[in-house]
Amino acid sequence: MKYSKYSTVIIGSGIAGLYAALKIEQQVKLPDGILLITKSRLGESNSRYAQGGMVAVMKDNKSDSVASHISDTIKAGAGLSEFNTIKFISENSDAVVKDLLKFGVEFDRDENGSLCYTREAAHSVRRILHSGGDATGKKIEQALCRKVSENENIEIYEQTDAVELLVSSGECKGVIVFNNETGDYETVYSSAIILATGGIGQLYKYTTNPVGATGDGIALAYNAGAVMQDMEFVQFHPTALAIDGDENRFLISEAVRGEGAKLCDADGVEFMSKYDERKELAPRDIVTRANFNEMQENNTDCVYLNAACIESKKLAKRFPTISKKCLEHGIDISKDYIPVAPASHYFMGGVRTNLKGETSVNGLYAIGEAASTGLHGGNRLASNSLLECVVCAYSAAEYLKSIELKTPKQIDEEIKSIIDKYSNEDIVMDELDVQSLKSKLQNIMWDYVGILRDEKSLNEANELIYRLKADFPREAKCLNREEYEFRNMLTVSQLITQCALNRKESRGAHFRTDYPNTNEQSIHSFIVKEEMELVK
Ligand code: FAD
Ligand code: SIN
Repeated sequence: MKYSKYSTVIIGSGIAGLYAALKIEQQVKLPDGILLITKSRLGESNSRYAQGGMVAVMKDNKSDSVASHISDTIKAGAGLSEFNTIKFISENSDAVVKDLLKFGVEFDRDENGSLCYTREAAHSVRRILHSGGDATGKKIEQALCRKVSENENIEIYEQTDAVELLVSSGECKGVIVFNNETGDYETVYSSAIILATGGIGQLYKYTTNPVGATGDGIALAYNAGAVMQDMEFVQFHPTALAIDGDENRFLISEAVRGEGAKLCDADGVEFMSKYDERKELAPRDIVTRANFNEMQENNTDCVYLNAACIESKKLAKRFPTISKKCLEHGIDISKDYIPVAPASHYFMGGVRTNLKGETSVNGLYAIGEAASTGLHGGNRLASNSLLECVVCAYSAAEYLKSIELKTPKQIDEEIKSIIDKYSNEDIVMDELDVQSLKSKLQNIMWDYVGILRDEKSLNEANELIYRLKADFPREAKCLNREEYEFRNMLTVSQLITQCALNRKESRGAHFRTDYPNTNEQSIHSFIVKEEMELVK
């Protein structure tokens, strides 16, 4: 097996990983260089598909303030968001946006050259920057990808999956990576491994997330002994385009509701006032449950979004991507109702970190959606995620500047035994129908660990996942990327199910029909490998 050594290894090339690479390169003197590993092509990630925008509390936006952003985030987060975390992220947003502009990111501006702000659910003011109308993620990512590709000090491995972290004596010393094109493994030693591997949307049958969102970094960190936080909190977006047979669903941004679109049934009867006085702009978990309830009561596969009330020129200018996508399906959003339904969208849980990106394992860091900083609490406020990605990437880089990145220590027995698993060429593996196993898991998670859960459904899920695990006989190494992803999906599904069983209350996106009330005491949930043996 090939060996290499880097001062810092960043795993993932979404906005968190790309920006971290650039900031570390800019700020830290690294004797052994930076490696950026990504399992697809450089730009492929959840980040690319972000539409609505990025929250920014800009100093010259006089209608906004850090206090107002904190208040909105806390309200949406159902009492679980951490004040200091929000304050830190909010206060740094102005500086980070200005820094992104220097890296060539362009946000939409009005005819006077001032930044344009939009509004989304549960924001009390317009504070969301956007780019390319509704192509914010793609525009930011393209600018950062360009800078990373041009930077000679950042080495890039594409089509390469991180498959196991090298941890001994509670310290992360590197990572085993697998090239899905050549089938080769490599051991990469490093004193700072940064997980920027994104979310878990693909665990569910219906999702807005692209195929790579399989929770890899979260499973790797869990297996390495890191503390996981709030794993029961999965955010379902209320308005994904519901076209028959499409399970990976295109998002109809909340910003469309922010600009005035209304939810209704097939006859055009609006229903949100039955659920919340903020109607379409209630927090996302409330709108999701409202849509889900309407669909169940009326036995339909979708509800509808009526955007025809928005002036058609504005609609076309603000939402070019959505207009085009809908038109491909014969839906003219300036006239027709858009069929929409909930889909898994974002993960509030993940690897517990502080604001420097440190996890509970020395040398292992996590940023972006893979991390759980406590910002989002039980329900993420729209467009807070991209902001968290960039502020936390920035602060992790600052932190690395302040510590000595030592050359990784000698290989010990613990590390050697991990490397040996992947060096062994004698293991014979039969082909498995991973696609079919994956579909079964996605159905289980959607049906039993979805928008509404209870003890019976969660126990059923546990049992079914356990049986699926028995049909997936991979102990040491896997045959290909699909298998590694599925292995990670099984791990994260079990963690979500277990934590959902443990939390005997409803809060934010975690709704237990058998415990519909919220407990007075608001506490995070934690889970670590030593405390839970997942394999029965
Ligand atoms: P990602 O962008 O998901 O990147 C993860 C990277 O890790 C990818 O490059 C992936 O290939 C790589 N990777 C994963 N596993 C491995 C592995 N084992 N080995 C190597 N590489 C690996 N948020 C907002 O704030 N505003 C929005 O408007 C918004 N809109 C959204 C719209 C959609 C359709 C979706 C899906 C999400 C949206 N979000 C939005 C959420 C936001 O986009 C994500 O939370 C954020 O982009 C996550 O960024 P990230 O860098 O942490 O992860
Ligand atoms: C959206 O545009 O509705 C998504 C925004 C987000 O997920 O923050």
